[in-house]
Amino acid sequence: MAGLSASLLWAAMAQAQSATPVPENAAFEVEQVFAGTCGFCHSDGGRAAGKGPQLMNSPRDDDYIRSRIKNGKQGAMPAFDGAFTDAQIDQMVKYIRALKPRDG
Ligand code: HEC
Repeated sequence: MAGLSASLLWAAMAQAQSATPVPENAAFEVEQVFAGTCGFCHSDGGRAAGKGPQLMNSPRDDDYIRSRIKNGKQGAMPAFDGAFTDAQIDQMVKYIRALKPRDG
């Protein structure tokens, strides 16, 4: 009996593997997108202030950052709701959180 259920398990696993979908955000390179879209105002990939504030080591919480990216700020920063999916905006929040000074 144990042998039978093990082979059923193998069959199920093989099926699951062959059905692996292409990741939805495979082409979303957050660092490049940031440099191209945000870098005009957030200098050095967000490490330094420009027209906008430095984002590295932001004291703001994730929700604040997420909603700033979505809604922008009138007269200061464009809104990106619609330009990016929620998943992509989450990736940007993670990118901002992971920012470190450049070496050298
Ligand atoms: C046209 C210039 C401009 C562009 C482009 C821009 N920003 Fe901003 N951003 C600003 C300014 C100015 C502020 C400060 C707004 C304020 O006074 O609260 C800001 C604030 C922010 C904040 C909040 C920081 C804080 O501590 O208050 C985040 C996060 C942010 N921007 C992320 C982004 C991201 C991500 C992009 C690209 C998708 C982007 N910005 C594109 C100008 C810009």
